[in-house]
Amino acid sequence: MTVSSAPGKVYLFGEHAVVYGEPAVPCAIERRATVTVEARDDDHVRVEASDLSLDGFTVEYAGTTDGRPDVDVPASLVEAAMGYVDAAVEQAREAVGRPDAGFDITVESSIPLGAGLGSSAAVTVAGIDAATRELGHELSARELADRAYRAEAAVQDGQASRADTFCSAVGGAVRVEGDDCRAIETPNLPFVVGFDGGAGDTGELVAGVRALKKEYDFAADTVSTIGDLVRTGERLLDPENGSADDRLTELGRLMNFNHGLLESLGVSSRSLDSMVWAAREAGAHGAKLTGAGGGGCIVALDPTPETLTALQFTPGCEEAFRAELATDGVRRLE
Ligand code: PMV
Repeated sequence: MTVSSAPGKVYLFGEHAVVYGEPAVPCAIERRATVTVEARDDDHVRVEASDLSLDGFTVEYAGTTDGRPDVDVPASLVEAAMGYVDAAVEQAREAVGRPDAGFDITVESSIPLGAGLGSSAAVTVAGIDAATRELGHELSARELADRAYRAEAAVQDGQASRADTFCSAVGGAVRVEGDDCRAIETPNLPFVVGFDGGAGDTGELVAGVRALKKEYDFAADTVSTIGDLVRTGERLLDPENGSADDRLTELGRLMNFNHGLLESLGVSSRSLDSMVWAAREAGAHGAKLTGAGGGGCIVALDPTPETLTALQFTPGCEEAFRAELATDGVRRLE
């Protein structure tokens, strides 16, 4: 039996624009997906994912997803979660050269699904890591990130950046621009997350931005403006560029700006906007949606307890928590 965990993430800046080669800065947070894998002596894959949804589900299928039986939970949920586990299994089989390897897989996660916190990347990274190690093969963090990216891209019809999977594999704060992925230093970032209890469809939201960008030059300009904003924002991560307080204040202003640009690209929602405003009114340095949007989470910067308290009383906010930076990426537990 082999067990790996991998963290979720928030975007300090740059989601959506990163899909078109602009830079982005995601930061891993201490909310993890843990995947347990046990090799089987046939080619079946059995997946138990009791806390990916309220209902939970267990499915078993032979070889590929084509052999999957009907299960008594919403198809979209099974598809979403199974798609990533399936793609992770394929990547692990390919990495080890064992196309017919079978596994019993258990997924546990404290990252809400589809809420902008990188749940799918965390499951994919931890799944590939545990399945390859179960077969006696250890991938480097970069190989793992690359395979996880390929798995995500396969599920999302090629519409994925390397940001989520790289961040989850290596941990900490990272900078991603096209294929160039690197770990970066950040000051202590007092992240507060608000979750509306909902989810967005990443594929649909990415396709919406793509269509808008094609239709209007000013939408394409908005995407490149997000890139400019990230290039400005990342300079503030460097301690050489001002006092910690001043840099945090300006990072917050840029997060507010980033949210406005994402809003204009049509990926915010009423509940995300109301959590963003609640955080700003509580005195956060700044707040923005994180991830694909449409519903899910916002991230605010506030070292005081004010934003956390305000979010807990904001209609439409189901859960609020402080998110610590996860300095480790994938963790090899057993
Ligand atoms: O909501 P998430 O965690 O799936 O993040 C999506 C981030 C996007 O930039 C919108 C897409 C991507 O692949 O980078």
